[in-house]
Amino acid sequence: MTDTTAASRRNFLGFLAGSPLLMAAGLDRHVLKDLTGSNARRTAAALTEAQKAMQDASLISKASQALNVFDFEPVAKKNVPVAHWAYMATGTDDDATIKANREGFDRWSLKPRRLVDVSKIDASVTLYGHKYPTPIVINPVGSQKAFHPEGELAVARAAKAKNHLQVLSTVATTSIEDIIAARGGTAWFQLYHQTDWALTKQMVQRAEKAGAAAVVFTVDLNGGSNRETMIRGARADTRTCTNCHAGGAPIPGMQGVSDRDNRRKPNLVGYRDDPPIPEVGTPTWEFIDRLKQTVTTMKVMVKGIVTQEDAELAVARGVDGLFVSNHGGRAENSLRATITSLPEVIAGTQGRITVVCDGGFRRGTDVFKAMALGANSAGIGRPYIWGLGAFGQEGVEMVLQLLRKEFELVMKQMGTVNIAAIDRRYITPRV
Ligand code: FNR
Ligand code: LAC
Repeated sequence: MTDTTAASRRNFLGFLAGSPLLMAAGLDRHVLKDLTGSNARRTAAALTEAQKAMQDASLISKASQALNVFDFEPVAKKNVPVAHWAYMATGTDDDATIKANREGFDRWSLKPRRLVDVSKIDASVTLYGHKYPTPIVINPVGSQKAFHPEGELAVARAAKAKNHLQVLSTVATTSIEDIIAARGGTAWFQLYHQTDWALTKQMVQRAEKAGAAAVVFTVDLNGGSNRETMIRGARADTRTCTNCHAGGAPIPGMQGVSDRDNRRKPNLVGYRDDPPIPEVGTPTWEFIDRLKQTVTTMKVMVKGIVTQEDAELAVARGVDGLFVSNHGGRAENSLRATITSLPEVIAGTQGRITVVCDGGFRRGTDVFKAMALGANSAGIGRPYIWGLGAFGQEGVEMVLQLLRKEFELVMKQMGTVNIAAIDRRYITPRV
C-alpha cells in the first residue's frame, strides 16, 4: 500500500469508527481503536468485525421491532444452518415460480369504497365448525426442528396464543398428538401417502384419533421436484450431516444423508406391523375414494390443485376442500402464481367446498385479494418459518400478528366490515 492510499484508508476507517451505526451496533472500543490503528492484521480483523456489526445493526434484535414479515427473513438466515436454510428457501429449477407467486399479487389493484362505518370489523372465518379470528392459516412445513430446536411445538404455542389453524406435515419433527396438546385444540393433518397402504391407513386413523379435524392430502409432488438451491446449500454446509441424518438412499448433494431416515419424523414411526399392502403406481382419484370410504370420517382435503378441471373432479368425488397451491414454488416450475390459478379453481368449486389458497402471501393486501377472488382462507409457509428461525415462538406470534394487523387495516380501508363483504368488486386487474 502506498502512503497516500494507506492514509486515505486510515481516514475512511477513522470515519467508520466514528459512525453512530457502529456505536449502535455495540462494537467495543478496542475494535474501534484497532480500526484506525497501524497494525495491518489487527485493522483487517477489526474491519471484518465492523462489517459484521454493521450488517447485524440493520437486523431486528427483537420480534417486537419487526415492521413486516420480511424483517424476520435475514435474522432467520443468520441463525439457521446453511443447508437447512436452503431447504426452506428452495424452489425448483431456477426458483422462478417463487417469484411468480409474489408477482401474481401485483397484477391486481384494490378498489376501495368510502364512507362505510369501519369502526368495527370482523375478520373471522369458520372452517369446518371452528371459528378463527382471521382467514390466515399456518400451512404444513416439514422438519421444523431444522429451523429452531422447538420446531412445530413453538408454532403450535404461537397458534394457540393467536388462535390460528395449524396444519401439521406428515414429515414434521413433532407428533400430531403433541401438536394438538400444545395447540389446545384441533389441527389439520397433512398426508404424504406411503407406498404401503396399510401404513397410510394407520397414519390417517392415528391423526383422527388424536383429534385432527381434516386430512390434507398433498398431490403435487408425485413426479418429484428438482431443487437446485437446496442442493447448493447442502454442498456449502461444512457440518457433518450424518450426525443427525443417516442411512438409506442419499439425497442428491448430501453425502450419506438419507431422505428415508424417519428417526426424527414421529408421524412416520411406531405403527403396527400389519401385512403390507404395496401401492401400485402413484395415487389417482380412486385413492380419495378409498380414504373417504374406508379410512376416515375426517374432512378430506386435497392440496396442490390449480385447475378448474381438477376442482370439478374433486367436487364430484366428494372432496371437502382444496388447497390452491404450487407448494410454494417447490413442485413443477410452472411460472403460474397461485393467485392466478385461484379464479378458475373457484369456477370449478362454485362455493360448494372450502378453498384455501397459499403461495407467496406476505401482506394483508395479498390475503384481501385472495378473499376477493373467492378463497375462504390464505395459507402461509415461509413467513412463519422466518419468524420461527429468528425468534422461536415469539417470532411466529409476531408474524401472525403483523399479518392480521395489515389485513384488518386493509379491510377497513376498503370499507369491508366482514369476510362475506369482500368480493370481486373490490379488486381490478392492474393497468
Ligand atoms: C413446504 N410445503 C409443504 N407442503 C406440504 O403439503 N407438506 C409439507 O411437508 C411441506 N413442507 C414444506 C417445507 C418447506 C420448507 C416449505 C417452504 C414448504 C408447502 C407449504 O405448505 C406451502 O404450500 C408453501 O410454503 C406456501 O408458499 P409460501 O408461503 O412459502 O410462499
Ligand atoms: C417439501 C416437502 C416436505 O416441500 O413437502 O420439502
